[in-house]
Amino acid sequence: MDIPRIFNITESAHRIHNPFTPEKFATLGEALRLEPETRVLDLGSGSGEMLCTWARDYGISGTGIDMSQLFSEQAKLRAEQLGVADRVEFIHGDAAGYVADEKVGVAACVGATWIGGGVAGTIELLAKSLRTGGIILIGEPYWLRLPPSEEVAKGCGAGSISDFLMLPDLIASFGDLDYDVVEMVLANQDGWDRYEAAKWLTMRRWLEENPHDDFAKEVRAKLTSEPKRYAAHTREYLGWGVFAVMGR
Ligand SMILES: C[S@@+](CC[C@H](N)C(=O)[O-])C[C@H]1O[C@@H](n2cnc3c(N)ncnc32)[C@H](O)[C@@H]1O
Repeated sequence: MDIPRIFNITESAHRIHNPFTPEKFATLGEALRLEPETRVLDLGSGSGEMLCTWARDYGISGTGIDMSQLFSEQAKLRAEQLGVADRVEFIHGDAAGYVADEKVGVAACVGATWIGGGVAGTIELLAKSLRTGGIILIGEPYWLRLPPSEEVAKGCGAGSISDFLMLPDLIASFGDLDYDVVEMVLANQDGWDRYEAAKWLTMRRWLEENPHDDFAKEVRAKLTSEPKRYAAHTREYLGWGVFAVMGR
């Protein structure tokens, strides 16, 4: 079981697999006023940076589940590196339908809401692991500006314009699900650049090391097209943020 290989190649050097920087995760942890020993569940935990740094900085304990074998291994190594391997565990697996044995104070899905079939389904799934009064975190893209055409939306990596909402509508959608938005931390263009541009050097290095790999043609094509695609589309039209919500 694994995610498509292209992500394991292009994001192999990433610690954070979304447009957040380490500072943004620290801001979010502080904003949530995390108490030591708070249990955190993270569906689609990537390379584990959120759980590992929050364990180090705020004394939380946590479980992350991710379908990428590489990212899950990197998460375990990061936990050891930060001296928090006794506080956080990482499971390599499909997080769809995952419910924690013990209820948690924070249940998160930061940039992988397809796991629950969209934002509403993911909130419903996370709520099953949440203790009364707990906080759900959803990391999700939104339109900074509405794309002028479906073609531009596709250039942003969306299936269509309707895949994402404008920020006020995304915020209102949590209310429609009977949740209060109690905090949010939004990415900025520097964070987007770190997430997207960091893939380019990784791809270049991978190509130099694997010129005869079956995948080399695909990676070559991506490296050739990605910088312009990103600058013209994603960077201009797409925002991203983490929203903290509590049931009413
Ligand atoms: C955009 S990344 C976000 C990763 C992480 N939350 C972070 O902030 O660095 C999405 C993650 O979801 C993982 N993923 C995709 N489908 C999954 C599934 N069905 N179950 C668990 N993880 C999944 C990917 O491997 C990837 O690490």
